[in-house]
Amino acid sequence: MAVRQLSDTTINRIAAGEVIERPASVVKELVENAVDAGATRIEIVTATGGKSLLRITDNGAGMTKEDLQLAVRRHCTSKLPEDDLMDIRTMGFRGEALPSIGAISRLEITTRHASEPHAWKIEVEGGQNSEVEPAALNAGTRVEVKDIFFSVPARLKFLKSDRAEATAITEIIKRIALANPTIRFTLSGSDRRQLELPACTGDDADLARIGQILGAEFTKNAMEIEL
Ligand SMILES: Nc1ncnc2c1ncn2[C@@H]1O[C@H](COP(=O)(O)OP(=O)(O)OP(=O)(O)O)[C@@H](O)[C@H]1O
Ligand SMILES: [Mg+2]
Repeated sequence: MAVRQLSDTTINRIAAGEVIERPASVVKELVENAVDAGATRIEIVTATGGKSLLRITDNGAGMTKEDLQLAVRRHCTSKLPEDDLMDIRTMGFRGEALPSIGAISRLEITTRHASEPHAWKIEVEGGQNSEVEPAALNAGTRVEVKDIFFSVPARLKFLKSDRAEATAITEIIKRIALANPTIRFTLSGSDRRQLELPACTGDDADLARIGQILGAEFTKNAMEIEL
């Protein structure tokens, strides 16, 4: 058989296999993007353990129309302005997450950058990008992911029960929240009890956030170590 270059759609589906293992991996990528965008409020909504719906809304910087167009393409990132891999200050930098998610789901991104007169929206379905269209959103970014793995059904059977997938999402949110105490997180949906983590400020912000997640008993017995 002759050697040939794979299509972008196939390349993205293969890459998605490395980035996206389950709904919680999508949540991790999208919440990290919101953190990188400087959000102070991040809202996560899920249904059926994230299999049918994930919606992440942030109040971060948003994207311009041009950035939105590029953001869903592979190896496109705003986070390596100098191509310097020794100076990474963000959670992401590969430019892999959005195209990978778009390759294996129905992805819709609505975003508004301060320099734009209104919001813009793009849809990606099984790796096919739509045109960017005007949309309504005051500020920040809303990313909706529906029907994860619909384009690669073989992967659906490796997912656990809705309940187990919902729990995995909660765990990811708790971990990211622990490391980002000044951000308010809300996790809700028809598949879960609501989790609210109000922003923690001041000198004891770290300890306050640890308390929200691990409980007062833990913080009472905790000791700060500087390393
Ligand atoms: N919630 C968001 N708010 C603002 N900009 C965003 C948001 N999500 C993505 N972007 C923009 O889209 C680009 C692509 O996102 P994507 O997650 O695919 O790659 P990345 O974050 O740069 O790297 P990685 O693949 O390691 O996550 C980002 O570099 C960023 O500029
Ligand atoms: Mg990212």
